[in-house]
Amino acid sequence: MVPPPDVQQRLRSWRTAVDRTLLALGDEVGGMDPVASALRYALDTGGKRLRPILCLAAADAVRAERPDDEARLRVAAAIELVHTYSLVHDDLPCMDDDDLRRGRPTPHRVFGTQPAMAAGFALIPHACGILSTAARQLGLDDRACAAAVGELCRGAGAAGMVGGQVLDLEAEGIDLDVAGLREIHAMKTAALFCAALRIGGIVAGAGPAALAALGGFGQRLGLAFQITDDVLDVTTDARILGKTPGKDAGAAKATFASALGVESARRAAAAEAAAATETLYGAGISSPVLTALAEFAVGRDR
Ligand code: IPE
Ligand code: IPE
Ligand code: MG
Ligand code: MG
Ligand code: MG
Repeated sequence: MVPPPDVQQRLRSWRTAVDRTLLALGDEVGGMDPVASALRYALDTGGKRLRPILCLAAADAVRAERPDDEARLRVAAAIELVHTYSLVHDDLPCMDDDDLRRGRPTPHRVFGTQPAMAAGFALIPHACGILSTAARQLGLDDRACAAAVGELCRGAGAAGMVGGQVLDLEAEGIDLDVAGLREIHAMKTAALFCAALRIGGIVAGAGPAALAALGGFGQRLGLAFQITDDVLDVTTDARILGKTPGKDAGAAKATFASALGVESARRAAAAEAAAATETLYGAGISSPVLTALAEFAVGRDR
């Protein structure tokens, strides 16, 4: 379904604002070339910016007073810094060994493996620093600031994204069942989605019930998103995808597309996205923007 014009407008304006904020953050990080250049290259426009937009939408769903607040944008952009690091490292020769990302050569192909790896690492403390400072600027107390940073560290850490990436690599060449795949996807992708939504809730002062619902939405949506990513690797060409298609099969990755076939995988993603939206309704959160983002996560072509 095509989102209503006001929702489209909101998404466009957040996307532009997030891009602008990320460019500023790339300039603020400091350090020397080639690492600084690799870092700015990785942050350059071209990504969907879905995680920061989800964070902004979550905050907006809880408290709509400050949708374009600079500090709120910096909170959201901090999550994209972590996502960007994850992509830079995911593409390295020791992980998925990819040459193409967002329609351009991957950072390690342009700047070399060591600078790209260092740029990825540098993004992690930068993200934590930006998040804690911006949360403070929004007037959050110590406890809420710590909670926001804690969400990001948990989502990105060994029990979240990093752990999921390890499992993903270990599963190459192994026939996993759907339960095993769900565990990998929940950790490598959905944990950061969950963090993005919960951080949005925290900065807007959400209570425990709303936070739980936002987190549940993020977890389910992240799973739907990664299942769709698995499908797109099989069904889309490089020109649209901006990545090398067929990489998963080439590496004998355990994916939903290989485990279930493309059509069943698509249905599983749609069911997960619908369940995500139900989680919000169940908690009395009505957000046309989050609903549109859930539809986008599974209906996209890149
Ligand atoms: C790619 O994420 C990595 C996955 C978790 C599937 P995105 O599809 O959000 O990548 P960009 O940021 O839009 O390039
Ligand atoms: C990556 O999953 C998940 C991350 C945490 C980066 P993929 O390896 O499937 O992502 P793409 O397809 O390279 O974007
Ligand atoms: Mg990978
Ligand atoms: Mg990859
Ligand atoms: Mg993929």
